Amino acid sequence: MMFGSSNISNMKKIAVFTSGGDAPGMNAAIRAVVRTAIYHNLQIYGIERGYEGMINNAIMELNSRSVSNIIQRGGTILKTTRSAHFMTTEGRKKAFENLQLHGIEGLVAIGGNGTYTGAMTFYKEYGIPTIGIPGTIDNDLYGTDYTIGYDTAINTALGAIDKIRDTADSHDRIFFIEVMGRDAGFIAMDSGISGGAEAVLIPETITNLEALATKLTGGNDKKKTSQIIVVAEGDEAGGVYEIVDKLKLFIPQFQYRITVLGHIQRGGSPTARDRVLASRLGEAAICGLMAGKKNEAAGIVNDQVVFVNFEEAIHKRKPINMDLIRLSEVLSI
Ligand code: F6P
Repeated sequence: MMFGSSNISNMKKIAVFTSGGDAPGMNAAIRAVVRTAIYHNLQIYGIERGYEGMINNAIMELNSRSVSNIIQRGGTILKTTRSAHFMTTEGRKKAFENLQLHGIEGLVAIGGNGTYTGAMTFYKEYGIPTIGIPGTIDNDLYGTDYTIGYDTAINTALGAIDKIRDTADSHDRIFFIEVMGRDAGFIAMDSGISGGAEAVLIPETITNLEALATKLTGGNDKKKTSQIIVVAEGDEAGGVYEIVDKLKLFIPQFQYRITVLGHIQRGGSPTARDRVLASRLGEAAICGLMAGKKNEAAGIVNDQVVFVNFEEAIHKRKPINMDLIRLSEVLSI
C-alpha cells in the first residue's frame, strides 16, 4: 500500500508509542506498525509510556520478534500514561532532544483526542512528521468510522448487560448500568441496543427523567419482568447515582439496582474486528509517513483508509447516528 503524495519521504527511523487510556487492539496496531516498517526496510523504535517515555528517553529499537504473540493481548506492551510533563514547553523540548539523540525522523501516535492534541502541538513546534492511529474504546474520534478497542469494549459491556438481565429478570428489578465513553454515547448506544435495553441515556440527547419514569411505569404495567437502562458516563443529567436519585422522586415504588461497569470495559483480548482494524491502520500509518504525510490521523471510512489532519480530528465532533436512538425506542416497547 502506498499513498500518493508529491513529497515522498526518505525517512529511515520511525518511533511508535501508545498514549492516553489503553484500548484492546493497541498491541495489534503496534505489531502492524513494527512489521510494516521492517517490511519496508525502515528502523522502528518503541517509546514506553507515551509522551512520558519521550521525555525520559525510554526509547528502544524493536524487531519483528519484539511483537510476536501480542496480537491477541489486551492493554499495550509499550505501556501508556496521560503525561502532564508533555503539556509544558520544557517537557516537549526534552522529548525532541531525546528523539534527535536516536535520529527519529517520524512518529506514529496511537491514542485518542489527548494523544492527537499532543502530537499536533509537537509537530507545530518541532516539525517531526507524525501520523495518529485512533485507539480508544470511546469511538469518539472524527475521521474514522470506528476506533480501535471500541468493538471489544461494546462486546464486554454487552456480556455484562446479558448477565445482569438474568438476575434482573429473576427479581423483577430495574437496573441502571453505567458504561464508559467520556462525553460520547457510542458505547451506551450500541451495547444498549444489542442488550435490548429499555432506555439508553446519552449526552448527545437531552435526558427527560419524567418521560423515563412514565416509560418504566408503563413497562411494569405491561408485565415486563426486568428493565435495563444503559447510562453513558457523560450523560448531561449526571452520573448514574445522581440520575437514579432524581428518578426516585417520580417513581419511588420500584426496586432499583445500579452497576457501574468501569475499567472492565478497557481490558480483554481484542475482537477479530478490532485486530483487523488495528492491522490496517498500523500499515496505513507507516505507508502514510513514507508517502510524505505529516500531522494527520489515519482512519477507515466506508471500508477505505483515509487521512484527516489532526486539527480536524481533534475539533470536529463525530455525530451519533440518530436512527439508532429512534430504533432503540421502537424496540423497547
Ligand atoms: O477514554 C477512555 C476512557 O476509558 C473513558 O471512557 C473514561 O472516561 C476514561 O478513559 C477513564 O480514564 P482513566 O483510566 O484515566 O480513569
